Amino acid sequence: MNIIDKIKEQRDITREDLELILTTDNREAIEYLRQAARAEADAVYGNKIFMRGLIELSSYCRNDCLYCGLRRSNKEAVRYRLTEEEIYDCCETGYKLGFRTFVMQGGEDGWFNDERMCRIVSTVRQKYPDCAITLSLGERSRESYQALFDAGANRYLLRHETADAEHYGKLHPAEMSWQHRMDCLQALKEIGYQVGCGFMVGSPFQTIDTLYADLQFIRSFQPHMVGIGPFVSTHNTPFEGYPNGTVEMTLRLLALIRLLHPRVLLPATTALGTLHPRGRELGIQFGANVVMPNLSPRTHRKDYAIYDNKICTGEEAAECRACTEQRIRKIGFESVVDRGDYKE
Ligand code: 5AD
Ligand code: FES
Repeated sequence: MNIIDKIKEQRDITREDLELILTTDNREAIEYLRQAARAEADAVYGNKIFMRGLIELSSYCRNDCLYCGLRRSNKEAVRYRLTEEEIYDCCETGYKLGFRTFVMQGGEDGWFNDERMCRIVSTVRQKYPDCAITLSLGERSRESYQALFDAGANRYLLRHETADAEHYGKLHPAEMSWQHRMDCLQALKEIGYQVGCGFMVGSPFQTIDTLYADLQFIRSFQPHMVGIGPFVSTHNTPFEGYPNGTVEMTLRLLALIRLLHPRVLLPATTALGTLHPRGRELGIQFGANVVMPNLSPRTHRKDYAIYDNKICTGEEAAECRACTEQRIRKIGFESVVDRGDYKE
């Protein structure tokens, strides 16, 4: 039995096999991996690709992650936050475009405290009872996560960034804690959110061993969603000038995650589309089944500058939706806007 069949059969991978898959230049083996991953996605979700409407609430962030363009030490970053009215307008635009999942994402911005954020979530919940509300607002207290859940949020994205505590320490300032990140993910799950974790591919100091830890973490945590994308070296950050992650490595890892955890909702990320003109399409062909077109107001788009050269910063929501839909159709998949919940 070849190693890809073995991974699929056992829903597990050895460190040695991971190294083989990530380093091989055997195109046939990679094509076999791709087809196996795509077949798994098809078996659970068919050829449907779920579209989520992304709203970027704030470019303010209290954190100082070494890789991120929005880190608080980056004095050149342009900061904005959407008003509540702007957020509701984005949702209305998104709803009219057909979206039934809103992803509200932002830096860790104290302005969006529990009172304000719960008001926003419950307003959106009341206006659109048929929609899923996904939050991606970083680390908060368990009480905060609970209050937001009670206000009507359904899903939460919080990338773990790396499952190796030592590696985490090299990507973040000393005041941030890997254990706290893990505790947040655990709390989110216990509260009842559909939870997404994830990591960057090719981040500085990443090794086969840290990636192996990431895959084993995904196996044990069983998240509903996993967001991965290539690391993109970004100006005005300590990692400016470090090499980017690669599209090739990201695709192989997407496929492996699909084989290890077949039911996972797996986005083809904007970062992947940033490093390759057909990056998101390739992601889908390697087992991804979610895309997140941007609904943020065009005036602020370019200022949600987590990394350099981010795509989709000039397009209106409708253009972004049409573009994504067309790209998905072109490669033979069906884009759908319904809630697209995790299939238990
Ligand atoms: N390149 C790619 N992804 C990045 N992120 C942050 N900075 C970068 C970068 N330079 C990712 C992190 C974070 C998410 C919001 O974006 O994984 O969790
Ligand atoms: Fe946004 Fe193509 S997906 S412009």
